[in-house]
Amino acid sequence: MHRTYNFSAGPAMLPTEVLQQAQAEMLDWHGCGMSIMEVSHRGPEFTQVMEQAEADLRALLAIPPNYHVLFLSSGATSQFSMVPLNLLGANKSADYINTGQWSEKAIAEAKRYGTVNIAAHAEKTPLVHIPAQNHWKLNANAAYVHYTPNETIDGVEFHWIPKTGKVPLVADMSSTLLSRPIDVSAFGIIYAGAQKNIGPAGLTIVIIRDDLLQEPIAATPILYNYRIQAENKSCYNTPATYSWYLAGLVFAWLKKQGGLQVMAARNQGKADKLYKYIDGSDFYSNKVRVDSRSWMNVPFSLQNPELDKKFLAEAEQAGLMNLKGHRLVGGMRASIYNAMPEAGVDALIEFMKNFAGSNK
Ligand SMILES: Cc1ncc(COP(=O)(O)O)c(C=O)c1O
Repeated sequence: MHRTYNFSAGPAMLPTEVLQQAQAEMLDWHGCGMSIMEVSHRGPEFTQVMEQAEADLRALLAIPPNYHVLFLSSGATSQFSMVPLNLLGANKSADYINTGQWSEKAIAEAKRYGTVNIAAHAEKTPLVHIPAQNHWKLNANAAYVHYTPNETIDGVEFHWIPKTGKVPLVADMSSTLLSRPIDVSAFGIIYAGAQKNIGPAGLTIVIIRDDLLQEPIAATPILYNYRIQAENKSCYNTPATYSWYLAGLVFAWLKKQGGLQVMAARNQGKADKLYKYIDGSDFYSNKVRVDSRSWMNVPFSLQNPELDKKFLAEAEQAGLMNLKGHRLVGGMRASIYNAMPEAGVDALIEFMKNFAGSNK
């Protein structure tokens, strides 16, 4: 078997054990003589998968009982619309924190449905960072405050939770959910596309406090109505059953690893190692201030961008895949989610050292 280290930002690496289990169960799931892809989403087999996945996710994140967990069949982008459609209400406005490319997309979509107040945005000088909350201009009457705890493209991450009092806090955790423990009770809604730390693309997890299952804006598509989705246990229509099943295998794998405390220690360790090497080198650099650096996505530039192509080609030959930075920012980006072993980060650092040594 040939497995490379895949540094893609998403769809990202999945744990090998999970893929092996899915492979072993592919033709005959638990003796039922069918693949889990082939059974009814309303039958006993898939009901078991759904219930176990939700129970494991609840246990991993210690989700309080007054929160619903939805397994929706769409990307995180659907939530850029679903949040304002359901929460904005008539004549209201929402506060958005703009810390990068994904915040901007969420803002652009929310503006289609109501008034958006940009309460704060990431500062670029001298290094990119998230401004402290005492510099934000929050509106006490906002319908909600939306932010992106980890900006996947820019590698900018909050290492604290904003305090919004009675105003519900909504978080796009697409590239950070399950990388560490979080206090779910601090949020009104948490959402995340699956293809980073959760499972394959096609699934979006939404964790929503029950008082927020309110009447959406008129003409909201039925599948975009949180209340309808919660009442139908995410099965108003046929859900993305295989993605849901695989996410369940990932949750079980995370529990076997020791849970999210263990993942947090591993993830912080991997990120620290990589940033330490970059900071100590005069060949590579990262432009994010230390307190706003992402544990999940580490963007870096070569001092001489003319070497970018050579770097990527040689990295691929060394089995280090998908290190190209996002097309909007260029340079490199190493995404090091839960499934990236520490050995993958060690191999990357070793490669970077050798490349720097032979291209000075
Ligand atoms: C933080 C963040 N939000 C939203 C998205 C969009 O997700 P999707 O492509 O699943 O709609 C991504 C995708 O990478 C992301 O990283």
